[in-house]
Amino acid sequence: MTHLFDPALYERVRLPLLEAETLPPAGYTDPAFFAREMERIFRVHWNLVCRADEIPGPGDYRAIDLAGVPAIVLRDDNGGLRAFSNVCRHRGSRLVSEHGTAKAISCPYHGWSYGLDGRLLAAAGMEKTKNFDPARFGLSPLRLAEWAGFVFLNFGADGPGIDDHLGNLTGYLRSHEAEGMSCVHRRVYDVACNWKLCLENQRESYHVAVVHRGTLKDQLPEQLEASGNWSGSWFRHDGSIAARLGAGKALPEIPTLEGRAAEGTYFIGLYPASFLVFTLDCMWWMSFRPVVPDRTQIVTGLCFPEGATRRPDFEAILPDYVARTDVSHPEDNRATELQQRGLASPHARPGRFSHREAGVHAVDNWILDRVLGSDEEA
Ligand code: FES
Ligand SMILES: [Fe+2]
Repeated sequence: MTHLFDPALYERVRLPLLEAETLPPAGYTDPAFFAREMERIFRVHWNLVCRADEIPGPGDYRAIDLAGVPAIVLRDDNGGLRAFSNVCRHRGSRLVSEHGTAKAISCPYHGWSYGLDGRLLAAAGMEKTKNFDPARFGLSPLRLAEWAGFVFLNFGADGPGIDDHLGNLTGYLRSHEAEGMSCVHRRVYDVACNWKLCLENQRESYHVAVVHRGTLKDQLPEQLEASGNWSGSWFRHDGSIAARLGAGKALPEIPTLEGRAAEGTYFIGLYPASFLVFTLDCMWWMSFRPVVPDRTQIVTGLCFPEGATRRPDFEAILPDYVARTDVSHPEDNRATELQQRGLASPHARPGRFSHREAGVHAVDNWILDRVLGSDEEA
């Protein structure tokens, strides 16, 4: 029997785009393939998880669940962001859910309490326990990085920093000054498909004229030269593509934009599983969180610079921007759920790519570079 991770099975995905085949269906359905992705991709790379302004003040926290790792991102008393394993050091209960504000993190099981710096502050009932040293039972810290106002977590103990991960991406996006933007709108979708289908879908515009007929105009972007863990494209246009078609007044263009940033839109697949749209008047982001092979949670946010959010007409115009993504995201989700249903069939076979699917081919090959090979090569 051929082994699921035998590179020979994927040789045709490795060919140049117009000669290549799509990823075999097992890549979207097999629990062993999914487990390998968690281990070799999500637990060792930098994962985009939220915006820093979603955790604005001391004591604010968010629970993040990604790749089977419960995490807490919080702002400490000094205003710095920190991340910890969201697991109690007593007998392992998950600690916090969703998001909120707290002076300390209290375990819902036996009440152990941790400071915002992770130290164990109180553990009532442990007085008689021999050689119990509270200093050794603080929350386990996780690696956290910030870039362009985004928060990233890395579940590995070591490895390259965020700058290595991003490669030359910063050069393309710098003039948007995204670190100063506010995330004014957030949505969460639970989708019945593999996480890769969500990312692949965002990385091609071949489907736009069909799936988003009546919602979006077709786009013919050109692929960007990428170094680092991303692939992306750029599309030249005038006016807003972020407000719904037929919207009246748009928000002004971002005044700091330079070069190609001022002439169109960047669509970026930032690996492992996020997607960024940096456009003329705003920015939106998507984070695809694998739950099981055929379930993914999508978290999205829509961000604007202060110059826009402070305008007296901002609240009146914003619904035209929200309406665009509130229609187009569910249209994409329906498409990828149908695709998952098909790929689960024993009759599903690898397909071929259009010249408009360079982004899908790039995503799949980045994943294969990490997933293939025997355990000994890991
Ligand atoms: S498991 Fe947290 S206090 Fe017991
Ligand atoms: Fe789409």
